[in-house]
Amino acid sequence: MENKVAKKHLITAALPYANGPIHIGHLAGAYLPADIYARFLRMKGEDVAFICGSDEHGAAITLRAKKEGTTPQAIVDKYHQLNAKAFSDFGIDFDIFHRTSSELHHKTAQEFFLELDKKRAFTKETREQFYDDEYNQFLADRYVTGTCPKCSSERAYGDQCENCGSSLNPTDLINPVSTLSGKTPVLKETSHWYLPMEHHERWLKEWIENGTLDGKPHHNPKEWRNQVIGQCKSWIDGGLHSRAMTRDLDWGVKVPTTDGEGKVLYVWLDAPIGYISATKEWAAQNNKDWKEYWQNEETNLVHFIGKDNIVFHCIIFPILLKTHEGYNLPVNVPANEFLNLEGDKISTSRDWAVWLHEFNEEFPGKQDVLRYVLCSIAPETKDSEFTWDDFQARNNSELVAIYGNFVNRATVLVNKYYEGTIPELSQNNYPEIAQQLKKSASTINEKLTKMQFRDAQNEAINIARLGNKFLAETEPWKLIKTDPEEVKNILHLSLQIAANCAIALAPFLPDSSAKLTAILGLGSLNWNDLGSTQIVAADQQLGKVEHLFQKIEDDIIVKQKEKLNSKTKPPAMETTLPAFKEDIVYDDFLKIDLRVGTILKAEAVPKSNKLLQFLVDLGSERRTILSGIAKHYSAEEMVGKQVQVIANLPPRKMMGVESQGMILMAENEDGKLSLMQPDQSITNGSSIN
Ligand code: MF3
Ligand code: ZN
Repeated sequence: MENKVAKKHLITAALPYANGPIHIGHLAGAYLPADIYARFLRMKGEDVAFICGSDEHGAAITLRAKKEGTTPQAIVDKYHQLNAKAFSDFGIDFDIFHRTSSELHHKTAQEFFLELDKKRAFTKETREQFYDDEYNQFLADRYVTGTCPKCSSERAYGDQCENCGSSLNPTDLINPVSTLSGKTPVLKETSHWYLPMEHHERWLKEWIENGTLDGKPHHNPKEWRNQVIGQCKSWIDGGLHSRAMTRDLDWGVKVPTTDGEGKVLYVWLDAPIGYISATKEWAAQNNKDWKEYWQNEETNLVHFIGKDNIVFHCIIFPILLKTHEGYNLPVNVPANEFLNLEGDKISTSRDWAVWLHEFNEEFPGKQDVLRYVLCSIAPETKDSEFTWDDFQARNNSELVAIYGNFVNRATVLVNKYYEGTIPELSQNNYPEIAQQLKKSASTINEKLTKMQFRDAQNEAINIARLGNKFLAETEPWKLIKTDPEEVKNILHLSLQIAANCAIALAPFLPDSSAKLTAILGLGSLNWNDLGSTQIVAADQQLGKVEHLFQKIEDDIIVKQKEKLNSKTKPPAMETTLPAFKEDIVYDDFLKIDLRVGTILKAEAVPKSNKLLQFLVDLGSERRTILSGIAKHYSAEEMVGKQVQVIANLPPRKMMGVESQGMILMAENEDGKLSLMQPDQSITNGSSIN
């Protein structure tokens, strides 16, 4: 028989920013499903390169360094180490965990850029951008914050509003503020390389909607997740625009042309190329040809990401790969939705998270439990939630009570009756067991191939359920007195069921499968044995029997909940309340015309969940004023209230309505707003000094 050449797969997991530790949301979003998939394919004997690394450029890093009063290099060194170790302790089995600060990456990204430039992928344009003249720096992306023009959230970044998900340009922001100086930026001209994405709309639409590329079938769009196709369609249908691919910064991959002096590649241009440089490094270390993984059309490229990365992996990077020529495009981008924690969004800044490196320390040897729980609740089609009670319940009533219990019962009986020697099957009176195993095997294969990991894991646990049911129905502990021959058959089959558990659960729970492999006295596991009833051999000796899982007691869970709840309190002052601004001269203050006014009318603003529209009596005149307080006050309760108004700001249009002033409010560290009211009724129009 001819040797079948193993199918090649290049699996990538989003390169995490090296500006903070990994938490369970990251794991559930990208790394755990990617690892399960990679382990599944490797067990099938396919040729897999599973690639990841730290994303070490961009404003995420430099702003973090500034906040911690250290250098970007120190930040990325710290978190690269921490995250590499946390992943490895958790059994995320990357073939390489590379870094975008490496020389090989810089070289790879620069060559890629030059080739794109040569192919006229970019247009060079001079446009006005925000500039902080105190820091002498252009303010791209996260260096500016302001009010979102779409949803009025006051915490939008220059590149994106995290409240409504819109992608933004810094100049779209209302009330832009520099994150460096806290001042309003000025506009200044600068030249950059732009990617005219609008030129690519046609083929992208074809590729996303029909799965065809250059008129040929490329992938099956039915296999892509709805939310991925949906997001892409809405981007394309909304019209793509050109986007700057370079930045005026000094931290990043330098633009390798003479006219690129002082500029670096946009982090979202350089980071995905990090997948390529990581593959190169891995290939060099392992005597492989990296091109076989990126440029051979037979290789399947799959990107595992969270939903906030969809546009970069399904639109921008594919444009770059296609324009460069010679590279594969992904055959699937299985993006997950978000994981919440105990009723709240996971938040790094509020420290509302379960951090992987802390879990590894506090729950040694329990990595499989977290893997199991995160896969059971994986946000594959909608956001989902992690709670510590659920973690405990799934451990105690599923891992311990179903999987662990079945394996323990079967192996303890074999030890007891046959001193650990696997009994023979002289007659199979239970054909339904083999049938059921075959059926489970085919379901698991199908679900894993379709990247439906939740369902796949559930079906794998069903094999242990089958084992428990089999023992409960046949009652070998009773039968041993009346029909000891039949007990041999039953326990032989039970061990075959256990062996199927070990195989089926290996991609999900690698440590437990390794333990079970040793208990069953097997040398290794072979995926193709899944569904078979001839995995363990009669007369072989079991290894040392031990429990696969331990019950988790209440006090452990209480401790974790307390730890988390100690964090709901706002963190220390300086971390969230803004720092004091620099001194101003008295005249600056006198320029502000502050007045007392009474709200005569208040109403909601259509399509805005933040804004209320007021008619305010300022004594000599009435003004229409919009204010982003709908989440804090109802329109009804505002009527009749006296408020403080800045009366001499230029009018500003929001949601199509002109606002002729601003109502003063205090904002606490949680973002809660409170009106500043006079403590007694006072004439409208009175000035505040
Ligand atoms: N660092 C990005 C994030 O955490 C992901 C980068 S993925 C890559 O959102 F493709 F750019 F590498
Ligand atoms: Zn918004």
